Amino acid sequence: MSHLSAYSLAILLHLVAAMVLVGASVSSVYVRRAILEATSIGALRAWLGFAHRSSTANPVAALALLGTGIYLGSRGWWTHAWFYVALASWLANSVLAARVLKPAGAAMGAAMAGVPDAAPVDGRVDALRRSPGWRVAGALMLASDMAMLYVMVLKPSLIESLAVVAGGMIIGGGITLLRARPSGAALEAPARPPRYNGDRDDERAAAGA
Ligand code: HEM
Repeated sequence: MSHLSAYSLAILLHLVAAMVLVGASVSSVYVRRAILEATSIGALRAWLGFAHRSSTANPVAALALLGTGIYLGSRGWWTHAWFYVALASWLANSVLAARVLKPAGAAMGAAMAGVPDAAPVDGRVDALRRSPGWRVAGALMLASDMAMLYVMVLKPSLIESLAVVAGGMIIGGGITLLRARPSGAALEAPARPPRYNGDRDDERAAAGA
């Protein structure tokens, strides 16, 4: 069996943690879309619940990523500029998660309190889910995660590391912001009705159809 050094073990743990975080970031793109397209409070509740559950491992993964990253850095990478770009990116993502995404989910949850599942998504709840802040934050985090993959594997210079992170964030955040603006409402509206709508089944059943 291959010899597993402490460094290799740290790399393995680092990659597991990175996979958890990058995976959650990628799937959050589809979850955000489902939240925007939910036609009833019940459906919105279900997707918010899914978003919450599917991100419960993220804080532990983020701490493991940082801990193993610092350990790996102590073996020589501390002298490289990309290491500090990675640290800054980790910090930025943690702040976005704790200060934007978490409060946005909590605000939507609070606004739905006591509203029956069958009610349509409108008023304050609709305004909250359409607000650009949490959607742009999610896009920035995904861009930063992808940029980290590039930075980790290629270990570029300071300028190149910053350019990749900033470029990814400007493109990802910019596109999301443009789509989230009120004038971009047409882009937001689903081109066709969602393929499956449980409420419609209930309505049909009630109508005896
Ligand atoms: C989403 C964020 C991150 C991802 C996707 C990621 C991914 C990776 C990958 C794929 C490697 C293996 C590179 C290779 O062997 O060529 C690696 C190594 C490494 N990472 Fe990260 N990482 C992330 C965050 C961080 C952070 C925040 C730090 C600093 C605290 C860090 C520090 C390191 C170090 C020092 C290495 C060792 C480089 C080597 O031995 O080649 N990483 N990372």
